Amino acid sequence: MNNDIKSVLYSEEAIREMTTKLGKQITEDYKDKKPLVVCILTGAVLFMTDLVREIDTYLEMDFMDVSSYGDGTVSTGDVKIIKDLDKSVKGRDVLIVEDIIDTGKTLQRITEILSMREANSIKVCTLFDKPARRTEGDIKADYVGFEVPNEFIVGYGLDYAGVYRNLPYVGVLKPEVYENN
Ligand code: PRP
Ligand code: MN
Ligand code: MG
Repeated sequence: MNNDIKSVLYSEEAIREMTTKLGKQITEDYKDKKPLVVCILTGAVLFMTDLVREIDTYLEMDFMDVSSYGDGTVSTGDVKIIKDLDKSVKGRDVLIVEDIIDTGKTLQRITEILSMREANSIKVCTLFDKPARRTEGDIKADYVGFEVPNEFIVGYGLDYAGVYRNLPYVGVLKPEVYENN
């Protein structure tokens, strides 16, 4: 699997350092609150579980799975809930955790849904952000780890065809990996 990677863009250590930094900011911002930390499955799992260990406040965790792409590869913006939260968000300070924001459509819909459910506040923490894919007025994260180039990256939760999520770093695939598929 490691052999399929052309280059490493974010090392395990760089990700760890950034996660610690984000955790400190979040600790400060939520010190008098008890946030509900919402992980968007599946990509955000690795980041979320590392991030919460860097947050020193009382918090709860919940998980939500949505599908935005249907069977195609082009985002339709039509986000369907596959697995809903177990907990109520009403009156809660919600912190949504994502691995990456691309077009922003997934997050747009999720924040709409959670604000209809009357969350007290909704903030977003993403490890990676591709701002080049969005325009003015589109959704923005409150906490961003790295702004990434418009390249297809895998690892640390990010997949290609469902695999490579377990790489401890983030990198770019060799072109022949796509060509063989
Ligand atoms: C990826 C990623 C984000 C979303 C970002 O998830 O993890 O959740 O796409 O794309 P957007 O900003 O264009 O909406 P995906 O739907 O591939 O599911 P996964 O997390 O299970 O890989
Ligand atoms: Mn995802
Ligand atoms: Mg995916």
